[in-house]
Amino acid sequence: MSFPITRLRRLRKNPILRNMISETTISVDDLIMPLFVCPGKKVNNPISSMPGNSQLSVDLLVEECKKIVDTGVKSVLLFGIPETKDEHGLVACGENGIVQQAIRAIKEELKNNLLIVADVCNCEYTTHGHCGTIVDGDVDNDLTIETLSKQSLSLTKAGADIIAPSDMMDGRVKAIRTILDENGLYNTPILSYAAKYASGFYGPFREAAESAPKFGDRRSYQMNPSNSNEAMREIQLDIEEGADIIMVKPALSYLDVIRRAKDTFNIPIAAYNVSGEFSMVKAAAANGWIDEERIMMEIMTSIKRAGANIIITYFAKEVAAVLNK
Ligand code: PBG
Repeated sequence: MSFPITRLRRLRKNPILRNMISETTISVDDLIMPLFVCPGKKVNNPISSMPGNSQLSVDLLVEECKKIVDTGVKSVLLFGIPETKDEHGLVACGENGIVQQAIRAIKEELKNNLLIVADVCNCEYTTHGHCGTIVDGDVDNDLTIETLSKQSLSLTKAGADIIAPSDMMDGRVKAIRTILDENGLYNTPILSYAAKYASGFYGPFREAAESAPKFGDRRSYQMNPSNSNEAMREIQLDIEEGADIIMVKPALSYLDVIRRAKDTFNIPIAAYNVSGEFSMVKAAAANGWIDEERIMMEIMTSIKRAGANIIITYFAKEVAAVLNK
């Protein structure tokens, strides 16, 4: 049955009708806010390429977490900027590592009102900025999963609610699941950055986390942007190794990968609306070229419509403010 009997504009006539047939909704429950914690007291170093985001010392980070909880956002993803770095990133494995300190301080203040996701990777903690131990000019997979396992155990013992490995080493989910289970921590979920691409969209983050590689790039471990079949293999392997939630990252240039993962696997999917995606919107808005709020909400909608259950985004507080209006 077609025109003139069928007229799709009938259901677009007013906002009540439009909302009634809306296929995609966004809630504060879907959002995770990334935060950067650095040493010191009362330190707030604004990240110039990511307006509104800063490196915060533990005391100010706790204050920021309280504000986040007040907006209704219920989860944060923590990245650390350590005092010192070493060749293997072992500085991230200590009981008094910067993220471990942050987790304990947040939990003391906010208890279980805020879910803490701990990013697990070595790139912020190595002198060379790569995600693992270098052997013959490249990251050695099997040595790196040992440090990642240690880091994961330490972060979980400090109180992290979810462990999120972002390194893209083969076999790391299994190694992390094994060490957590051996230590009785079988209830801590793993959110694996399963399909993580070698992307130019991480540019601003590397300023934020001080984690840019000192030589080469990450193409020998992160995925080639041209591949989607391979993403399905990455996700399948991570599920087999014990991942509880899988992630596609970045989000916007990879909405097709999110949709394909949703159609292929029965597992919760997270999407990371990464730093470059955030900064582009902020820069265009600062020039008056776009309506920031409208575009932010359209981006969130597109990521959920593609099939993501969870959105990791630097816009989390601002999205919550719109939802709370
Ligand atoms: C660490 C890590 C990166 C991001 C999250 N975890 C950077 C990278 O892989 O180079 C990027 C996040 C963003 O751009 O917002 N491996």
